[in-house]
Amino acid sequence: MINARENRPDPRAIREYLLDGSLKFATVSGVWTTKADIIRYVDGKVPAVDIITTKSYQVRPNPGNREPIIGEVEVGSYVNAVGLRNPGMEEGYRELKALRDEKPLRTLLIISLSGNSPGEFITLVKKFAPLADILELNFSCPHATPGYGASIGVNAELVREYMEKIRPETGVLLFPKLTPNVENIGEIARAAVKGGADGIAAVNTVGPEALP
Ligand SMILES: Cc1cc2nc3c(=O)[nH]c(=O)nc-3n(C[C@H](O)[C@H](O)[C@H](O)COP(=O)(O)O)c2cc1C
Repeated sequence: MINARENRPDPRAIREYLLDGSLKFATVSGVWTTKADIIRYVDGKVPAVDIITTKSYQVRPNPGNREPIIGEVEVGSYVNAVGLRNPGMEEGYRELKALRDEKPLRTLLIISLSGNSPGEFITLVKKFAPLADILELNFSCPHATPGYGASIGVNAELVREYMEKIRPETGVLLFPKLTPNVENIGEIARAAVKGGADGIAAVNTVGPEALP
């Protein structure tokens, strides 16, 4: 069992924990565990959660889309386009560093990152690696500005190229997050693994075009 530890686990211990055959429950990026205070709360008060994922951080602060960012298309059916709103790398690091310094977390922490080039991802990876158990690479946001998110994850060659460039920069486990809105997500996942991914975060938002 990796939980209730005083020291941060190394990547091998994390890998063994993830593959020990028991089901783990993780929060997803951008929903619920978006701020340090909420992460602290879920870590302390919600034992069902084993793994916490942060909001995706970008190098610079991003105010996201203009409101309204949520719409009800029919009764009980909602769409959203947050546009990757986040406070940027420096503020994100400051918040998460304070969280780490306060006391050890029971849960594993996945820090989600979003760049528009291998260079931006490397900047983010180097900044956040000391705080992360796993780094999630957002290759999949459906409504990010061009160059970010799904514009990477729809192209197997690009995914492999990004992974090959980012992989040597850190020993922390890397989980690219993929979009289901492609012909063959298996092909993209294989390209990611060939490029050095340790796991796959599956999946970002379906559709809207894939919905009935
Ligand atoms: C409000 C909102 C914000 C999100 N923000 C992010 C984000 O910052 N990074 C990311 O990779 N995914 C983000 N997502 C996608 C979710 O993490 C998840 O992959 C997606 O909602 C698919 O899961 P679902 O089908 O259960 O909704 C967001 C989703 C929602 C609804």
